[in-house]
Amino acid sequence: MNLKEQVGYKAVDFVKDGMIVGLGTGSTVYYFIHAIAEKVKNGLKVELVSTSIQSIELAKSLGLVVKNLEEVDRIDVTVDGVDEIDKNFNAIKGGGAALFREKIVADITDTVVWIYDETKDVEKLGGFNLPVEILPFGYSHTIRKMKEQGLNPVLRIKDNEVLITDNNNYIVDLHLGYGFDIEDVKNKLSNIVGVLEHGLFLNMCKYCIKGTSEGPVLITNYSK
Ligand code: 5RP
Repeated sequence: MNLKEQVGYKAVDFVKDGMIVGLGTGSTVYYFIHAIAEKVKNGLKVELVSTSIQSIELAKSLGLVVKNLEEVDRIDVTVDGVDEIDKNFNAIKGGGAALFREKIVADITDTVVWIYDETKDVEKLGGFNLPVEILPFGYSHTIRKMKEQGLNPVLRIKDNEVLITDNNNYIVDLHLGYGFDIEDVKNKLSNIVGVLEHGLFLNMCKYCIKGTSEGPVLITNYSK
């Protein structure tokens, strides 16, 4: 088993009969969705909601039923990946462009579990560029404002086209550098009209499962 597979399968330990479960997005959650599908085939009864169209399609292709978020009033447990995480359980997410839905789903979840391999574990955030979802209307002005604030924005392009999110918006990646000032960046972004959501997920998880060569390590966030 590779490290992503290891943590994806380990995360099903958090899922019990009767739960409403949030499916994150990405190549690590891919294994969690496979693990859930196997459990469901063996009789596990859960309701599922998703953070992206990609995860809905994967789940459906494995025979799972995925509900619309409006059909549930809360979520018991959500399992998602991260792009980087520091010692204070602050993470950067959105490498897969799903940050907005991921943040909404995390916000209404009782227990958020992040799964990742040890390469994501960092002393300080910033090695990974910070994704921000912005409105397409007036986007060049939004980007100009970001530049004026020294946020080094780069509009995300995929296959030679501007990437469009599941919410029909754009993603800008901020090249902030290692050890950037989290509070300062958060404040600057909150003052820019056109910014819809950013990929800073600060202290939002209760548990982490880190994949290491010695096996999965469960980390509890006692401040939650
Ligand atoms: C998508 C995300 C993912 O959770 C994050 O990019 C990690 O993905 P992966 O498990 O493929 O490394 O935030 O928006």
